[in-house]
Amino acid sequence: MASQVPFTDSDTADEAVRTTCDDASICKRFATSKNYWTDPYIQYFVRQIGERKAPEISRGYYARVQGVNHLLDAFLKKTKCDCQVVNFGAGLDTTFWRLKTENTLPKKYFEVDFPMIVARKIHHIKTKPPLSKPLIETHSADSFILDGHSLDSDRYCIIGADLRDIPSLEEKLKRFQINTELPTLFVSECVLVYMTPEQSSKLVHWAAKNFHTAMFINYEQVNMADRFGQVMIENLQRRQCNLAGVDVCQSLDSQKDRFLLNGWESANALDMMAVYSLLPQDDINRMERLEFLDEKELLQQLLQHYSICWAVKDALNLGISQIGF
Ligand SMILES: C[S@@+](CC[C@H](N)C(=O)[O-])C[C@H]1O[C@@H](n2cnc3c(N)ncnc32)[C@H](O)[C@@H]1O
Repeated sequence: MASQVPFTDSDTADEAVRTTCDDASICKRFATSKNYWTDPYIQYFVRQIGERKAPEISRGYYARVQGVNHLLDAFLKKTKCDCQVVNFGAGLDTTFWRLKTENTLPKKYFEVDFPMIVARKIHHIKTKPPLSKPLIETHSADSFILDGHSLDSDRYCIIGADLRDIPSLEEKLKRFQINTELPTLFVSECVLVYMTPEQSSKLVHWAAKNFHTAMFINYEQVNMADRFGQVMIENLQRRQCNLAGVDVCQSLDSQKDRFLLNGWESANALDMMAVYSLLPQDDINRMERLEFLDEKELLQQLLQHYSICWAVKDALNLGISQIGF
């Protein structure tokens, strides 16, 4: 008789974390359908626009996407695209296609997520020509490596791995030719918070130890010790989703310390309220006219409970420590 693998609590917890990938994509799909920003590719990952989201949610996503893109684009500019990008917990993110369209692709763009999420992403890419064509255009050989859980081409690589298992992650990144000598940008958006502080510290430390010239952009919760933060935690717990890394989300200092204590030379952090006020005002004005927002206070509270932290190591003296808002 075939033995059955028991379904454990940690399977349930990981499954709940994986569903956050759909939450993010569904909110981005809705916001782009209202023209908060432009993303012609997300429709191929999330077909339906879905139910209406409150304007403060879409404004929050606007700030998140514009804020992370601002830093990412500045890194590509400083390195003249002679670099790599590694997106940890990328989910169904579409940045590869944006950079291809804007002609600012790095030497190689890597993404890592759980094998189950990667399998879904690869299926979408394989079956939708608007997604597969840009990959083929940036690839020199006739075919690229493709199995259920990874895809490798000259400029784009998707790897199925658990970010909490560093030896396996490193082995896979090496197998797909990550180059530790190239300036490298690491990005994680709402990902480290699902790992314990020890696990995320190990990941951050691994990146600092192996790459001499690098930047790490981390977007996630902050100021989680107050009442509003507690409600956010309880809402996620109700969906079996445990914020294992919430202790690092107490303040901007605790966010920065994770990097400063793990091999990074410098770190900056801003809450999203500050980022929102520093984004180009003309586009903010355009965006704020899209949907009427009655309750400004809720938006402010939301923005005060998310942050962008970015850390730098610059052995090549490229000036990446000057990147900011
Ligand atoms: C909230 S979603 C964000 C997705 C994407 N970064 C975005 O902003 O649209 C979190 C993602 O992190 C991934 N993730 C969380 N923990 C992970 C781990 N230990 N290993 C690999 N992926 C992980 C989840 O599967 C999910 O796709």
